Amino acid sequence: MFQQLDAPAKDPILSLTVAYREDAREDKLDLGIGVYRDSQGHTPVMQAVRSAALTLADQQDSKGYVGLAGNERFNDLMSQFLLAGTSALARSATIQTPGASGALRMLGELIAYAKPNATVWISRPSYVNHQPVMEACGLEVREYPYFDPDTKLVNEAAMLESLRQLGPDDVLLLHGCCHNPTGADISMATWQAIADLAEQQGFVPFVDLAYQGFGDNLDADAAGLRLLAERLPEVLVAVSCSKNFGLYRERTGAAIVIGATQADALRGKGHMQRIARATYTMPPDHGAAIVAMILENDALKQQWLDELQAMQARIQRLRQQLVAEFRSASDSHRFDYFAEHRGMFSVTGLSAEQTQQLSAEQGVYVVGGGRVNVAGLSEDRIGKLVSAFLAVGA
Ligand SMILES: Cc1ncc(COP(=O)(O)O)c(C=O)c1O
Repeated sequence: MFQQLDAPAKDPILSLTVAYREDAREDKLDLGIGVYRDSQGHTPVMQAVRSAALTLADQQDSKGYVGLAGNERFNDLMSQFLLAGTSALARSATIQTPGASGALRMLGELIAYAKPNATVWISRPSYVNHQPVMEACGLEVREYPYFDPDTKLVNEAAMLESLRQLGPDDVLLLHGCCHNPTGADISMATWQAIADLAEQQGFVPFVDLAYQGFGDNLDADAAGLRLLAERLPEVLVAVSCSKNFGLYRERTGAAIVIGATQADALRGKGHMQRIARATYTMPPDHGAAIVAMILENDALKQQWLDELQAMQARIQRLRQQLVAEFRSASDSHRFDYFAEHRGMFSVTGLSAEQTQQLSAEQGVYVVGGGRVNVAGLSEDRIGKLVSAFLAVGA
């Protein structure tokens, strides 16, 4: 059965990790895979998570199955956390999923079931897994213009112009904040304009919120999503707890369906449960139980908020330092975009050749297209990154 199989394509980001591991140079620098690192280069377990996990280990008296929608307490808390204050909360329904990846898949499958001919529009470029997941659901995927390689910001005019062609058979996939890979986010005026277009043309926004709290703050990072949720009858949301709770390997996320009515949303939820049953049946509970415990305990929640805020502030500080060091080393302002970007990543526009040179000659590993994980840097390695970039002609 397996002899005639062709060799599977390697995941570009995961293969970068292997190449980095095999590099013997002591001063090598891994800015590839998307995890937050502290100044010691560790991806820490947050203290609030550790405390909740210890309490859980002490108090949990059963490992019996949970339901198809996962931990319903987590589901309620997550939807309240995201949608509180909007009319959408009362017409939403949520399932817990294995990470935002699981949410993308469940929501993609739901779209394919509800509207098999739908086209999902993704930004150019977008998160590397958006297209494969949506295509695996049998959906057509097309791109809308997004990143301007000259300004390193979003070309909002071109984006909005392109969205004018969307109609009721289209789903618009948006990054809630901290766009991956570019780091360039849309303004509130553009969120507003998207809501206007969706209202007029009938397309459905699908917001992927994987970095809430890493951009400006929890509320600001969800403001675009809340605006759409308040105004539009139907919105889909994929949420990740991987980054903002540091729960990467616990595979914790949520898929939220916002419908014109609660009954519509619950039908969507029911179908996602049916689809989950035929996929993984139910998600792992550990991460969701931890998140639920944090969100409903004032002291733990405050501790988590403080830790998250410290991570956000550290990323912003690294961005400012990068700009300062680039300015003095290059005697130019051409790297100022690092401070305009939000979240873990920035696309730098390095060519494939420069990216290759960067790893081969400088021992600095970044993703194709020149995506740098700023949150993978430590303060004492900024100089290394700056000199490596200038050495390859960035
Ligand atoms: C935009 C985006 N969506 C979804 C995901 C998947 O997140 P998770 O680890 O929760 O599956 C990521 C992870 O890198 C991401 O960047």
